[in-house]
Amino acid sequence: MNPIQYQGQSLRCREDESLLDAFVRTGVAIDFSCKSGVCRRCLVKVLDGAAPAEAARSLPTHLQSAGYVLACQCKPSGPLSLAPKSPADMLTQCMLVRREHRPDGSSVLGFEAATELAFTVGQSAQLFDGPFSSPVTVRLTGRDEAQGLIQAEVAHDVLPQAAFSDDALFGADFQLRGPFPLEPEDEALLPEPDLALWQLLEHGRLVRRVLEAFYQKVYADPLLQPFFERVSMERVIGKQYSFLMQCMTGDNVYIGERPKNAHHWMVIPDTLFEHRQRLMAQAQREQGLTPEQMAGWSRFEEHFRADIVKHAPWPRRMGDQIIETERYDSVTLDEGTVCDHCGAEIAAGSTVRFHLRLGQVGCPSCERG
Ligand code: HEM
Ligand code: FES
Repeated sequence: MNPIQYQGQSLRCREDESLLDAFVRTGVAIDFSCKSGVCRRCLVKVLDGAAPAEAARSLPTHLQSAGYVLACQCKPSGPLSLAPKSPADMLTQCMLVRREHRPDGSSVLGFEAATELAFTVGQSAQLFDGPFSSPVTVRLTGRDEAQGLIQAEVAHDVLPQAAFSDDALFGADFQLRGPFPLEPEDEALLPEPDLALWQLLEHGRLVRRVLEAFYQKVYADPLLQPFFERVSMERVIGKQYSFLMQCMTGDNVYIGERPKNAHHWMVIPDTLFEHRQRLMAQAQREQGLTPEQMAGWSRFEEHFRADIVKHAPWPRRMGDQIIETERYDSVTLDEGTVCDHCGAEIAAGSTVRFHLRLGQVGCPSCERG
């Protein structure tokens, strides 16, 4: 048991338990998504104590030297005192390299980031310090790979012409806050059915065979498996099968969430989406699919990429309503159940705390930490 201090709370992290799991078990509010070291939502800052080196290995050096670790990758071997991530540490240091004027008065900025900046085209960010005397909101529009520059668009009424007319400003340092989450206003509509493809996939027989092989890989994959810890393989295969069948045939057979809501909390950058697609292609080849069958299937998955890929979670929506998912609540049990952490029985009438998205409940001993 390793004692942990976090924002005035004391808890004990068990042997071989990650900090994140200990936080969730004991009801400590923390941001998280992937549980595999990719999304960096679970960053915490070590104020005192020595965290294992692997807890920070994937972080850029400026975060490492500021004392950050990923709670999901940190299995403490001694006492730790921790603080939440501070917005000031999440800034990216940048240097302005060029500005192009557009006929409509807007500008395109090209700048270098001193540390890796992951973003999806269209996300917004705030620039400040240096030439920006007050924060300026920009839209990140892409990368100029040849010159190693990030490109951002600034509306004409946001940036006074005078602010950048002087060549001397080029090479100026500034800070970037963000990128901020980008949520498509509309969900992708269901694609046009392709009955010929469904027939080519032997009326779904090959789809089921591939999905069975694919999810074996997913559940053994260190990057993807943590997303699936609360859902059985049979359920996911069943849902995927009926979803793909509905997409390819147009028959109303799928009961479940559309991709945008189903994945709302999952931080899935393009690289992870592509990693999934590589596993899918492997499974398809192993099951003997032809390039034509593979391309047809892939078209249906790509159709939903914009509803799934993101660098920060989106809220879960029901019509116009936002449904809260990232907090704890408590309930008095009508019937007994078992603790999700240690398997002990919890009697009917007990009041238990649970995380709204994960739904895990703990016995009094696990909840106490
Ligand atoms: C890296 C990429 C992806 C990850 C990590 C991922 C992860 C998941 C997980 C964990 C679930 C279970 C959610 C739950 O039952 O609580 C799920 C469900 C689902 N996923 Fe994905 N997914 C990915 C890509 C895709 C793609 C490309 C599609 C197809 C267009 C897709 C379609 C679905 C559907 C239809 C469900 C069922 C939703 C429901 O149960 O209501 N996913 N996904
Ligand atoms: S990096 Fe820890 S939850 Fe994603």
